[in-house]
Amino acid sequence: MKSDLKLKGQSALVTGANSGIGKGIALALANDGANVAVNYVSNPEAAQAVVDEIKANGGNAICLQADVSNEAQVQEMFRIMCRSFGTIDILVNNAGLQKDSPFAEMSLADWQLVLNVNLTGQFLCAREAVREFLRRGIVPERSKAAGKIICISSVHEVIPWGGHVNYATSKGGVMMLMKSMAQELAPKKIRVNSIGPGAIQTPINRSAWETPEAMDKLLTLIPYQRIGQPEDIGNLAAWLASDEADYITGTTVFMDGGMTLYPGFSTNG
Ligand code: BGC
Repeated sequence: MKSDLKLKGQSALVTGANSGIGKGIALALANDGANVAVNYVSNPEAAQAVVDEIKANGGNAICLQADVSNEAQVQEMFRIMCRSFGTIDILVNNAGLQKDSPFAEMSLADWQLVLNVNLTGQFLCAREAVREFLRRGIVPERSKAAGKIICISSVHEVIPWGGHVNYATSKGGVMMLMKSMAQELAPKKIRVNSIGPGAIQTPINRSAWETPEAMDKLLTLIPYQRIGQPEDIGNLAAWLASDEADYITGTTVFMDGGMTLYPGFSTNG
């Protein structure tokens, strides 16, 4: 752990934290002093490995299984979270998935699965977190805010994405979920923001980086000329959750190496 602990004494829940971006965020929050609940839906060994890594580094963490799209499971997860850590100060709504197909072939099941996990899951977790933030209020020794929510969105909340219409739709929804919540809850001193990652090297987009040819093609979309890493997003999430970012609410911070800068126009148009 670092010596300057921006999140000391705060408790955080990170959904989908047993791999990829969620894992990077869980490690970063713990590194800044937060107690971290590592949510997962499958692969408990991977979740336990994240908890073990946090503990080996001097931090405090637990694993919590729940399908974020299931209301009863989410409510039970928050009960255990609050029993274990006393309360929740930070929610990172990270759990998400892709079920890609050409539009004409997209099944209703794949449409609904992606919307249920990526959008309804963020609603269900945010609602439970907000209920606890409102019940508890501000604890000035821990944070200036009564609670912080970080929604993990995507560059695809603004970049349309053919072949992934369900996914892009879910992220467009996350943007208005985040902004409308931020507007409603700011007077209660609850901050709600999103991070919009570009291409981050994780299992969800393996096919986009695993061969040199795929990586070369991907880099044509990234002006900064490198793929992102989970630690990039973790560092941003830890800062956004801290009081250093206390005046930020209702914003998506894109962390994408410039992917949202229309790179196709750099030498055309
Ligand atoms: C997707 C990745 C993709 C990235 C950039 C993310 O939201 O999950 O598969 O590589 O956006 O297109």
